[in-house]
Amino acid sequence: MKRKAIYPGSFDPPTNGHLDLIERGSKIFDELIVAILRNPEKDPLFSVSERRQMLESMTGGFDNVSVDTFHGLTVDYALRVEAQAILRGIRAISDYEYELQMALMNRKLQPGLETVFMMPAAKYSYLSSRLVREVAQLGGPVDCLVPELVVQKLREKMDVANRFGDTYAGAHDSEARAAERVAPERAREPKTQERKTKSRKRKS
Ligand code: PNS
Repeated sequence: MKRKAIYPGSFDPPTNGHLDLIERGSKIFDELIVAILRNPEKDPLFSVSERRQMLESMTGGFDNVSVDTFHGLTVDYALRVEAQAILRGIRAISDYEYELQMALMNRKLQPGLETVFMMPAAKYSYLSSRLVREVAQLGGPVDCLVPELVVQKLREKMDVANRFGDTYAGAHDSEARAAERVAPERAREPKTQERKTKSRKRKS
């Protein structure tokens, strides 16, 4: 039987740490699906399709790795794609408690499904998508933290934000930009307030 695993996460944005784990996972599983959670309650920097494109490009060199999106319970998705395992990365002891809770809850929901933890290279042990977003948004360099493609995408986001005098350009803002080109005043007013609320809400 083929050993199939999913690697679920937010990947907002995908980092070198994620890529490191994907490489490790691809060596111990016959098939690995990188599964991006579509979470309507989260306010991501990158849309799901942007994240999917980045991950597809990052993983193009692995024959047994594919990228997909899902919503709802991770265990239900794992069952649907007939995976036997969930792959998760543990960087430091601080990850352990949350990951243990999640793994045990997933086991309660679906006892036949195993969670497999792997550690990324030590040089990525401090790296998280949240910190990458923060450093990029404040104008710091992220070159060694994410693949070049992601550096470019982050730059594009920050350029858009700077052009419009924002500190934050979210995944849903491209629609607003398009509207703004057509009707500048009408598009700008409601979004200004909305973005203020968004940046107050963003945590992870
Ligand atoms: O990259 P992240 O944000 O740490 O990934 C967290 C993720 C997506 C794996 C987790 O939030 C998840 O599995 N969400 C799907 C909903 C679900 O199954 N919840 C119960 C988990 S115990």
